[in-house]
Amino acid sequence: MKKSIRMTVTMLSLLAATTLASGANAQDAEGIVVYNAQHEGLGNAWVEGFTKETGIKVTVRKGSDTQFANQLIQEGDASPADVFLTENSPAMALVDGAGLFAPVDKETLDQVPAEYRPADGRWTGIAARTTVFAYDKTKLTEDKLPKSMLDLADPAWKGRWGASPAGADFQAIVGALLQLKGEEATSAWLKAMKENSAPYKGNSVAMKAVNAGEVEGAIIYHYYWFGDQAKTGENSKNVALHYFKNQDPGAFVSVSGGGVLKSSKHQKEAQALLKWITGKSGQAVLKDGDSFEYAIAGDSNSKLVPLKDLDAPKVEASTLDSKKVVELMTAAGLL
Ligand SMILES: [Fe+2]
Repeated sequence: MKKSIRMTVTMLSLLAATTLASGANAQDAEGIVVYNAQHEGLGNAWVEGFTKETGIKVTVRKGSDTQFANQLIQEGDASPADVFLTENSPAMALVDGAGLFAPVDKETLDQVPAEYRPADGRWTGIAARTTVFAYDKTKLTEDKLPKSMLDLADPAWKGRWGASPAGADFQAIVGALLQLKGEEATSAWLKAMKENSAPYKGNSVAMKAVNAGEVEGAIIYHYYWFGDQAKTGENSKNVALHYFKNQDPGAFVSVSGGGVLKSSKHQKEAQALLKWITGKSGQAVLKDGDSFEYAIAGDSNSKLVPLKDLDAPKVEASTLDSKKVVELMTAAGLL
């Protein structure tokens, strides 16, 4: 009798120890959780490089800027996410506005030029991309190109251009337009866009349409063209890029963001990932990899028009108003 009680107690404590250990292992195996709304290839290249250098494991979940921003707000403190990475800043502004980010470590902020991060220090730029007019070079010569993105509202451009209005990339551009020119001008431009442009699902699809001669041009981000050129070039062989420059709304440079969730139970590891991405190794992934996005700390891929030559308009990335953008685009019949 005594013996069997002792055995039961031993077995129970063994069981408890095993349960505890497997709980700890499950957490170790998952490491930190990243909600990655950046392009999958770039997100994975960053995470793999980080794990290789630091030994910190990372689980990546895939989604889009808007989807993850809304999810994080809904999950609140119960979110399993430790880090959020985006393609554009409006999604960061949404999550920051909900008070969900922890302050970014000073060492990380110090690596990033002030123009690529918000003054509040609760998230940071991690990469950048520029707006371009991807045009059919078999149809348009330089003198026939729009001088400003705003020119595409002219009736002369009816049926001749396209974009991907439902995507976070394009909506960030509209956010910049709104900040630069105000609500009335933006709303008028969007209404003209509805009249003049063809909607495509994604920047790649819009570029393909230009390449196939469906439309003469499309407002997209630069790296879709460079990415295709680096592969077979089959979707961009008739396409060239026009940079508006001149601080035009069409020269908008969008900042991709990274932030650590306040609710993360792995603050140290999560902060380490942001530090790594904005540091030498993470920025080298942008310079040497196949994302063709701009580095914001250090040199970019030498094939790209240098960031400083883009003559981008001054836009405050942390206050791009995605809610107002959706409202205006819906009113214009674009969403
Ligand atoms: Fe994109």
